[in-house]
Order: sequence, then C-alpha cells, then structure tokens
Amino acid sequence: MDDPIFQPLHFRHLTVKNRLFRSSISGRIDSYDGSGTAARINWEKKFARGGVGAIISSHIPVDPSQRILPNYAMIDRDEQIPFWREVVKNVHQYDCKFIGQLSMSGRQQDIKGVENKHRVPLSSVDGWEHFHGLSGKAMNQKQIAESVLTFARAAGRARQAGMDGIELHAANGYLFTQFLSSAINKRSDDYGGTLENRARFLLEVVGAIRQEVGADYHLQVKFNAADYHNDYVLNVGKGNTLVEGVQVAKWLEQAGVDALHVSVGSQFPHPRNPCGPFPAESASVTYPSMIPSGKLSFWNYLLFRYKLSWPLVIWLWARRQPKIREGINLEECRAIKNAVTIPVLCTGGFQTASVIRAALVKKDCDGVSIARPLMANPNLPLLFAEGKDQAPKPCTYCNKCLAHVLVDPLGCYDESRFESYEAMMDEIMNIFRDENVLL
Ligand SMILES: Cc1cc2nc3c(=O)[nH]c(=O)nc-3n(C[C@H](O)[C@H](O)[C@H](O)COP(=O)(O)O)c2cc1C
Ligand code: SF4
Repeated sequence: MDDPIFQPLHFRHLTVKNRLFRSSISGRIDSYDGSGTAARINWEKKFARGGVGAIISSHIPVDPSQRILPNYAMIDRDEQIPFWREVVKNVHQYDCKFIGQLSMSGRQQDIKGVENKHRVPLSSVDGWEHFHGLSGKAMNQKQIAESVLTFARAAGRARQAGMDGIELHAANGYLFTQFLSSAINKRSDDYGGTLENRARFLLEVVGAIRQEVGADYHLQVKFNAADYHNDYVLNVGKGNTLVEGVQVAKWLEQAGVDALHVSVGSQFPHPRNPCGPFPAESASVTYPSMIPSGKLSFWNYLLFRYKLSWPLVIWLWARRQPKIREGINLEECRAIKNAVTIPVLCTGGFQTASVIRAALVKKDCDGVSIARPLMANPNLPLLFAEGKDQAPKPCTYCNKCLAHVLVDPLGCYDESRFESYEAMMDEIMNIFRDENVLL
C-alpha cells in the first residue's frame, strides 16, 4: 500500500486512484457517422476492469471535417451526449475515471472519409507535410475563431456527458501542433512567427473551454515537450526545442490548465511515439488504404510493399532512436515538471513496475500513461498490485497494432505473444461480442 504507483493522484478538480493512466488508443470501431458503438464501450471497460486509475479516450473529433480516420466516435453534436454518458457509466463501475481527448486533425488526416473526399482540411498553413504528403489549407482568422468555439462546445458536451475531465490533443502533429511547431507554422499574422503567436490558438481554446465549462472542471493538455521534426524526415528543421516546450508548459499553467501530458514528436506516428521499429511488413498490407490520401503515399507504399526496401525504411525510422527505451520521454518530462507546479503525466513505453516507481520517486513525473503495453496486457495494473514487476508476455513494441489501425479493429497483432493466430483473433474480436452493452 506504500507503493508510489498506487498512491492517489490529486489534481485540482479530480482525484485518480493510482498513477496509471490508459493513454489514448484510436481505432475504427465506431459507426461511420461518428456515433458510438457497444464495441467502444467494451473496449474502454476492458482497461477499467484491468485496474488503471483513469482512461484517456481515443481522439474524439469535435468536427467531422477534422477527423483523422472514419469510424471514430465523435462529439460534434448534442445527440452524442447519451452515448458518452453510457461509456462513462460503464467505466465508473470499476472506480476508474474517464477523460475525453478532444482533437482536430488539421492536415494530418490519414483517411478522409467519404464526406471529406473533396475537401482540403483546414490547417495552420497551405501545403503538405513531409511524411505522407497530406495537404492542408491555411485557416483565416474567422475560421480560427470558429474552431476555438467548436472546441469549447465539445468540452461543454463532455461535461454534460459526465466525463471526469478533458484532454486537448496538442501533440504529435495534429492541428494544435501545426500551429505550435516552428517547423510547420510559417504564418505571418498573429498566429505565426514567434512562439507566443504560435501558442495563441491553443491558449485561446483553453480560455474558451474555461468560459464554457467553468473553472472547476479538469482540463489537461497533451503536448510536445520537443518536436524532433527531423528524426525521420531528412533535410528539415528540428522544430520546437525543449526550451520552447517548457515555455508553452508555463503558459498553459498560467492559462488555468490542471495537468500536462508530455509527449514528443511533430507527427504521428513518429520514431519516438510510439517508440519501436517501423512495422514495414504490416504496413505492406494496410498502407494501400492511404494511397489516395497524400502526395507521397504511393511512393511510401512502394517502399513498404517490397521486402527489399524494408531495411532502408526501418533504418531511416530508427536512425536517431536505435534503442527502445522504456520511459523514452522521461528526460523531457523532468524538464517540464521542474518548470510547473501542476501534475505532469508522461507517455512512452512504460510497462515495468520498477521503472514506473523509480520515475515517480525521482519526481520525473506524477503519473504515467500507457497505451500499447495495456493493449497487450489490459490487466497490467492488477499484476503490479500483486507485486509482479512485468506481465508474463510483455508488449514487444513491434508496432504491428499501429499499422493495423488503418483498416482493422484495435488490438495486439503480435502473433508471437499468442498460442495461435486464432487465439490472437479471438482476443481482438471479443470487444464485438463481450457480455454487454445494448445501446
Ligand atoms: C494504435 C494507436 C493509436 C493511438 N491513438 C492515439 C490517440 O488517439 N491520441 C493520442 O494522443 N495518442 C494516440 N496514440 C499514442 C499513445 O497514446 C501513446 O502516447 C504512445 O503509443 C506511446 O505510449 P506506449 O509506449 O505506452 O504505447 C496511439 C498509439 C497507438 C499505438
Ligand atoms: S502489436 Fe502487441 S506487442 Fe506489438 S506493439 Fe502493439 S500491443 Fe505491443
């Protein structure tokens, strides 16, 4: 009971029973129109039952034109409130809190979906990014103001649905990063140029959310402590530095944010998020779904399609991060934590109790968020509570789940962790048929 992992974490307006947060894991398990499904409820329940203190939801798009992939439950209309209330009710049964992650894709829209087919998504700038070549169109100031309001209204719905708090997804290349990052934002108006200008959109959203939901509702921000923009792409700048990340953290605290969630990486995926090798073999099967999406996707597909080029892709991905490190972002997290007084969560590879405990004791962070290792072992917190240091079959960081997410249901796709292919499929499919929930 003295274990730091199982000490409650007190935020200003929320208490979580332990220091383990399920980090967001998006997947195409909802209806095409953005309404939620029983599979989503089963999915979230699985982790609540496994003992995490809080679940941070998958991205919840606040506007259909700003979703990342189709088939994610959204929160753009009041009619979606009852569904989210049902999710929250199911998660609460296990004394687990539920934090909704609100997002806009900006140009990082992997698969547009049929209603966005002929639309170029709004971003901070015109032009395309350097990974898939996904294009965006610069927002004018009226569109920025509308987006600020759209976030605020979505936050209001989250509160009405009984969510215990919200997280803004300002990390890993989505719309907020497209404003924040010096490598991406080349605007010349009040929303570009200096760091202060680049942070303006995010800070305006924080202010508008506070107006909408009040001062006593938990609001946290997942953001990049540093961009490491040139980790994968060659011949580009490195983007925001850790010094800039620290400054953004201070501004967010001053603006009334209750907690920070530290990530790194100016795109998603990025060699540091999620860490581990590029899953070239799985991508050779799933990436065709992205061929129409970006100016570079077809060329990427050719690289992923042929075994001969896999070593090149895998080397490019890993060249700056050759070793997988549990707690890969702890150094950056420590710098953020030292600069603010609000609690700080860290994402990145955590799955060993002793590593997590050491990070908490050294005050590198106040809690850890976990995605893939929980997908592999949803009962990891219960195992830690029994005194185990690791799950018997830990996550291998193979990133196959990441490649599958483009077209297949969420789950662990590393067959080596299962007795057979059938056993793996059985585990993946159980969210569609678990005991449950009738909507
Ligand atoms: C399949 C998949 C989907 C993800 N979806 C999201 C998401 O919706 N929002 C988000 O902030 N991060 C998302 N992430 C990133 C994770 O939340 C987490 O930050 C990252 O995987 C590193 O943590 P881990 O090493 O514990 O997996 C996703 C990761 C994976 C593998
Ligand atoms: S497929 Fe399974 S083992 Fe591989 S990274 Fe994903 S969760 Fe971990």
